Order: sequence, then C-alpha cells, then structure tokens
Amino acid sequence: MPDMLVKLYELPPSGDLVRSLAASGIQIRRAMAPDKVRILSWIEEHSSISARGEADTCFSNTPISLFIATEGKTIIGYACYDATAPNFFGPTRVLDAKQGLGIGKALLLASLEAMRAAGFAYAIIGGVGPAEFYAKTVGATIIEGSTPGIYKDFLGSRLIISD
Ligand SMILES: CC(C)(COP(=O)(O)OP(=O)(O)OC[C@H]1O[C@@H](n2cnc3c(N)ncnc32)[C@H](O)[C@@H]1OP(=O)(O)O)[C@@H](O)C(=O)NCCC(=O)NCCS
Repeated sequence: MPDMLVKLYELPPSGDLVRSLAASGIQIRRAMAPDKVRILSWIEEHSSISARGEADTCFSNTPISLFIATEGKTIIGYACYDATAPNFFGPTRVLDAKQGLGIGKALLLASLEAMRAAGFAYAIIGGVGPAEFYAKTVGATIIEGSTPGIYKDFLGSRLIISD
C-alpha cells in the first residue's frame, strides 16, 4: 500500500461533474463544525475507528479539511485532506450503493483543489487502496519505496486505515 503523488497543476476540471451530481440531488460540500459528531460517527460506522481518528483532526484545521457528499440530509460519502499529515489526501469513502456515480472523484477533486488553493504544487495520496482509481481520475503515480512509509509505526491494520 504505497503513497501516490498528484500534480495539482494538472488537475482535470471538476465543474461539469459537480453540476451533474447537483442536478441529480447530490451535493459536495465542506463539512461544518455543527455536524462534526454525526460525520465522525458515520465515518466510524462506514470506514473504521482509525479513519474516524484521522477525520477528527480535520475539524481542528481552518478551514475544516473534510468534504462530504450528501443527498438531502443523508451523508453518502466523505474525503479528508491534511489529516494523516499535511498535504496528504485521505481517508475517503463512498457508500457502497452510491459508488460508480462520480462521487468519489468529485470528493477527491474538491480536496485536491483546496490543497492547490492553499499553495501546494503536489499532493500525496496516503497508503492507497485502489491505485487505479487515483491514476485514472487525477493522473496519480506511485511513490517508489513508500510502503510502509509514514505508517510504519501505525498500531492498527494497514488495511483498516485505507478505507
Ligand atoms: C475508491 C472510492 C472512493 C471511489 O468512489 P466512487 O464514487 O465509486 O468512484 P467514481 O464513481 O468517482 O469513479 C471515478 C472513475 O474511477 C473509476 N474507479 C472507481 N473505483 C475504482 C477502482 N477501485 N479501481 C479502478 N477504477 C475505479 C470509475 O470506474 C470511474 O471511471 P469513469 O470515469 O471512466 O466512469 C470508492 O470505491 C470507495 O469508497 N471505496 C472503498 C474505500 C476505499 O477504497 N477508499 C480509498 C482508500 S485509499
């Protein structure tokens, strides 16, 4: 489970995707502090306790470094950045029943655009699971020798932290 590098100066545009999701009732937006507990509970339930811990740090950042996908008042996905380490993307997850609609890509692009706006030229996808997803959507490339990388002292399972 290596890390991957993304060129933030070559991101694909996100506008059409975000508009088409909005037209089908799916919103991509930055998390709000009043929703912190319900978002963290959702992440623990649908990802893991480790992902919850990482996401919790996002609420200490200004602005909050976590995007959610919602349908009405229902959370259907999330993505964190600046959580595991500064300039890192992840963890992320889309509800199984909502995968394949472009939500994961929209959450990824929202996060990467935020990192680009903060001044970064590159971003790192931490301990990837689906490398093909990141290669296909944002041209990410594997960082050689990055396994286990910063996770070498992680107390949990490498598989758990990736979701
Ligand atoms: C990875 C994940 C966030 C992707 O979300 P998603 O909403 O299903 O993905 P999207 O619909 O935005 O997919 C965008 C494109 O990537 C492709 N893609 C999605 N998941 C993929 C995968 N695992 N492998 C290869 N390609 C993938 C899609 O086919 C789509 O291609 P298209 O534009 O040609 O149609 C989601 O599958 C998920 O939550 N997985 C479980 C948790 C996880 O693995 N998190 C990542 C840890 S690093």
